[in-house]
Amino acid sequence: MPPQSAHLKGIKIVIVGAGSVGVTTAYALLLEGLASDIVLIDIDQNRAMGEVMDLSHAAHFAQARVRVGDYEDCAGAAAVVITAGVNQKPGQTRMDLVKTNYALFQDIVPRIAKNAPDTILVVATNPVDVLTHAAHKLSGFPVERVIGSGTAMDTTRFRHELGRYFGVHPRNVHAIIIGEHGDTQLPVWSLATISGMRLKDYCAQAGHPYNEEELEACARRTKEAAYEIIQRKGKTNYGVASVLVHVLEPIITDSDAIMTVSRVGTYAGVQDVAVSMPCKLNRRGAYQDVPLLLNEKEQDLLKKSALSIKKVIDSV
Ligand SMILES: NC(=O)c1ccc[n+]([C@@H]2O[C@H](COP(=O)([O-])OP(=O)(O)OC[C@H]3O[C@@H](n4cnc5c(N)ncnc54)[C@H](O)[C@@H]3O)[C@@H](O)[C@H]2O)c1
Repeated sequence: MPPQSAHLKGIKIVIVGAGSVGVTTAYALLLEGLASDIVLIDIDQNRAMGEVMDLSHAAHFAQARVRVGDYEDCAGAAAVVITAGVNQKPGQTRMDLVKTNYALFQDIVPRIAKNAPDTILVVATNPVDVLTHAAHKLSGFPVERVIGSGTAMDTTRFRHELGRYFGVHPRNVHAIIIGEHGDTQLPVWSLATISGMRLKDYCAQAGHPYNEEELEACARRTKEAAYEIIQRKGKTNYGVASVLVHVLEPIITDSDAIMTVSRVGTYAGVQDVAVSMPCKLNRRGAYQDVPLLLNEKEQDLLKKSALSIKKVIDSV
């Protein structure tokens, strides 16, 4: 049974969308012991009830209650995670989902905001950057209380790829992906380190080959991972669920973790757009950007990424 300290009692997390991502997130949250009350809301109440019945049996081994709810149940939630919406079919990009999922947000977000005016929204539905921007406008919440999972997912995948290449645990690779959670994302090579050393220096010291083509392949596999997984199994759910729990953790435990999440701001000179950059998170939300010293090429790529998100925002 996961240890649950007294201060986590009374922590309510609501998940809107009891599909693959929502339910896997509820399960991961349950196993982590981070919440005592997990509420699932879905337009398909029957499906949500089936998931809750199943999850309740897992809750037997944890210390949380899982239940089906409605928007009134958002009241008092530490965070509301939005995973409702259509997902990519093989061959579709995330941006292809925008019209359907934006319409859904127009219905969902005001209902959450009305019932839980002080909560934090964590958006996972794709295209996540565009919908983080939409959730900010539709809720009227300050920017720090509307967080898109953004490239937290891609950063995780990137560290996994680099960890495999260098033969070290992904946790020991300090490297991030910023920009769009999608096709224009970029790796920040200039600031990537292992054991406090730039990758080239690490290779020289550790006697590991430094092969730029192999490193580019790591970034390419990161960007294309979701396409490949969807091609093979029709969806992605485990990776994103773990990422969402790690976005929730500093909110629940007020711990100032830095993660690459998406929030509304000005990036590379592009105003009023949601883009992922490293950000500090605690119980106030994603409350502070951590500015990066990017090189010129990275700044140009970040601007291109921000502009491509902005173009879609302006089209909805
Ligand atoms: N950000 C990420 O890293 C990431 C990763 C994977 C998936 N996603 C996105 O998450 C979303 C969900 O994916 P999934 O695989 O769970 O899809 P899914 O089809 O399994 O689940 C979606 C759920 O949303 C519900 N829903 C639809 N309209 C609703 C409404 N108006 N109110 C409440 N619930 C509603 C559906 O009934 C369904 O249960 C997609 O947009 C997908 O692209 C994001």
